[in-house]
Amino acid sequence: STPGTPGAPVNVTVTGAAGQIGYALLFRIASGQLLGQDVPVRLRLLEITPALSAAAGTAMELDDCAFPLLAGVDITDDPNVAFDGTNVALLVGARPRTKGMERGDLLEANGGIFKPQGRAINDHAADDIKVLVVGNPANTNALIAQAAAPDVPAERFTAMTRLDHNRALTQLAKKTGSSVSEIRRLTIWGNHSATQYPDVFHAEIAGRNAAEVIDDEKWLADEFIPTVAKRGAAIIEARGASSAASAANAAVDHVHTWVNGTAEGDWTSMAIPSDGSYGVPEGLISSFPVTTAGGSYSIVQGLEINEFSRTRIDASVKELAEERDAVRGLGLI
Ligand code: NAD
Ligand code: LMR
Repeated sequence: STPGTPGAPVNVTVTGAAGQIGYALLFRIASGQLLGQDVPVRLRLLEITPALSAAAGTAMELDDCAFPLLAGVDITDDPNVAFDGTNVALLVGARPRTKGMERGDLLEANGGIFKPQGRAINDHAADDIKVLVVGNPANTNALIAQAAAPDVPAERFTAMTRLDHNRALTQLAKKTGSSVSEIRRLTIWGNHSATQYPDVFHAEIAGRNAAEVIDDEKWLADEFIPTVAKRGAAIIEARGASSAASAANAAVDHVHTWVNGTAEGDWTSMAIPSDGSYGVPEGLISSFPVTTAGGSYSIVQGLEINEFSRTRIDASVKELAEERDAVRGLGLI
């Protein structure tokens, strides 16, 4: 299910390539960690004009790694060029919130980025295009790009909650003295924001139900959920910059899993256009438990949602609906 033509390099476009996530991401893609150790890649770096020189510097360093799988690097400030023939698009570059900026201003500024990028993907990308939006607000930016690409199947537009998923795995492993590799079936529901809901009620630790192993609803409500949901802010506070290497790592995980499949008996978390499952209004790009195979994903069905989970999923989905209404009001979708 590797994208592209067998043997030909897969075209991978990274936006915001000169940013801090880009710097952590590009080398991992070029080394084969995104798609596999037998898949050559051609990188397309999209940046704004003032950052083209920095992107060129990163491309020089990519050259200097002599990665056997790297078939070439193109650098451009034109989305129509950046997405030409692209198989995998990682939309990382976004407008950060700055002092005095209202939420509406932020959404509008990002609309100015993700709408033209969605249109360029629509007009120029390869038929098997897969899109991951990392730039915040990731779910709603993905919605804007998707709305601008009516000829691309909607399900190809996804947003990243894998970082939240990985954060939750480690918090759970630490609490229970287990290893992350023993944990399966964890779920992040909703928005990549402080309202997200990391759900352990269906998770298993070494084959035992995680909620039963923990047996402490107070820890879940007062420690686990806020620690995972506010981790991004905690990293900013500690590092003086937002998470970059861990975000790049999660982007690699997200695409690798999408292309290569989930393990038997396990699932992952991806923000994807809702089909109405679990009461999430159709079309909202919300995080779900998903399995992947053959380059496609499906939402895990039939999970029982208890009251504790229901209120939290609903709160995050409500926030997503408000963001959608705001960008609709701005004429962005
Ligand atoms: P950064 O500021 O270091 O880099 C962003 C880059 O994007 C800059 O180089 C900028 O020039 C570029 N850019 C801006 N507008 C662009 C456009 N129209 N086209 C192409 N490039 C453009 O930021 P970063 O630390 O790399 O983070 C990038 C984004 O990822 C932020 O929005 C951040 O909040 C988000 N993020 C998301 C997650 C997640 O889990 N979903 C995690 C961490 C960070
Ligand atoms: C993260 O989860 O680390 C980021 O989304 C935080 C941020 O606001 O950039």
